[in-house]
Amino acid sequence: MRPDSIAPGHLKTEDEHRRDVCTVGRWIHQRAYVASTDGNISVRLDPHRILTSPTAVSKGMMELDDLVLTDLQGRKLSGRRNASSELAMHLLIYQRRPDVNAVCHAHPPVATGYAAAGLPLNKALISEVVLALGCIPVARYGTPGTPELSEALELLVSHFDAILMANHGVVTYGPDLLTAFFRMETVEHFARVSLVTELLGKQVLLSSGDVEKLLAARARYGTTTAAQVGPECPVTSEAVEPAAAGNRVSLTREELEALIDEAVRSDRARR
Ligand code: 13P
Repeated sequence: MRPDSIAPGHLKTEDEHRRDVCTVGRWIHQRAYVASTDGNISVRLDPHRILTSPTAVSKGMMELDDLVLTDLQGRKLSGRRNASSELAMHLLIYQRRPDVNAVCHAHPPVATGYAAAGLPLNKALISEVVLALGCIPVARYGTPGTPELSEALELLVSHFDAILMANHGVVTYGPDLLTAFFRMETVEHFARVSLVTELLGKQVLLSSGDVEKLLAARARYGTTTAAQVGPECPVTSEAVEPAAAGNRVSLTREELEALIDEAVRSDRARR
């Protein structure tokens, strides 16, 4: 199901945004990224208004009028229900990231497993993930529904587009709701692939040269991301095999031919 309205590209009415939030709520529920009434979704409608999912309602069963309008401080403007208990986390992201207009929070089981193990998804294992997200850090634990949760994310929000929340779940965000949802899908998919490599007992990481080429290709794919990259993000083959990297020698064809010539010459001279 992909209602046309959710595709970015035209200026949406508030009703279309309401439909999009309900659609993404159904998607995260159908894919078992959430159980029960877990998860929350919001959209920044304009510089003054946020449309958020309500608290304690199944995000797979929301009706258009279940959604709540608030201002950027989280004060309710309209709606028969109460706003998500985690709205403060969404507001922090909108405040820190002027490029972001939608936030999606869910508990997809494999990525949440990594979060519960305190393991970031930060290895250069899959080219598309390096392109789309760079790497996915783990924010320290903060009690849901309290300022602790936002405080735990504060330092990471400017540098990443997807964050694992320790002992809790995942938050993703982007310029529009479809992008925020796709990032959630990418995180869970990557977590599954990572888990398979762990089960197989073998991971072949991309090299830093491979990662550089992917980053250079981002513009070609139209990828816009704030994802930070650095020596440990994502972790490359050189980082896990420093000895091998240190012992590796690279030669031009000419240098190699010269070495072979010299070896042949000295062998002939010895005879
Ligand atoms: P809300 O229903 O209040 O948005 O909270 C759901 C949730 O995921 C808590 O972590």
